[in-house]
Amino acid sequence: MNPQITLALSKGRIFDETLPLLKAAGIEVLEDPEKSRKLILATSQPGVRVVIVRASDVPTYVQYGGADLGVTGLDTLIEHSADWGGGAGLYQPLDLRIAKCRVSVAVRADFDYANAVRQGSRLRVATKYVNIAREFFAAKGVHVDLIKLYGSMELAPLTGLADAIVDLVSTGNTLKANHLVEVERIMDISSRLVVNQAALKLKQEPIRRVIDAFAGAVGKG
Ligand code: PRP
Repeated sequence: MNPQITLALSKGRIFDETLPLLKAAGIEVLEDPEKSRKLILATSQPGVRVVIVRASDVPTYVQYGGADLGVTGLDTLIEHSADWGGGAGLYQPLDLRIAKCRVSVAVRADFDYANAVRQGSRLRVATKYVNIAREFFAAKGVHVDLIKLYGSMELAPLTGLADAIVDLVSTGNTLKANHLVEVERIMDISSRLVVNQAALKLKQEPIRRVIDAFAGAVGKG
């Protein structure tokens, strides 16, 4: 019998946009994680199962072997690698070109960001992406005080907690609804397939099959 392959996914956009790729790869997830409390989901392939984890935990599961493969945003991957020894043991074979968005700097519409940066003021920046933000502002030579948040970043400039935020922007609707404007685009984001390097050696054939099937599905997209 083939060894069991475990794929880590997070609920929401990444799950929804990975499903068609899995389907094209001949793997159908047999349960809807939004309707069930189950964390381990069977698929149409007896040798492949899906585990549902928090988005920020996907690289951790794959790096430490709790899952053989995972789908994670480049944003999450960069933050994880900066925090966890460069993400050693995580192989990144594929850009899945799904869940596309960007990491940007945003401020209140009435905040003069260009002037604050030009004058060399110290900016207070609230973000979940402290490593991306630190590197970006350091490269620009802008002094920042980083405030780590875990969600609802848009509130920070509105309540006076911070001058600016670094957050994901997709349609821009969340910024608009909160009277914030995007002032700098830091990087484009999409979801990546990540693979545990040791698992790739031990279960080379079935994992390669899944990677190749994903690659074929992305190519068709
Ligand atoms: C992200 C991000 C913004 C929103 C941007 O949150 O933090 O709040 O999406 O999308 P938009 O430009 O299309 O409005 P997400 O929904 O991923 O949840 P999170 O707050 O848990 O990060």
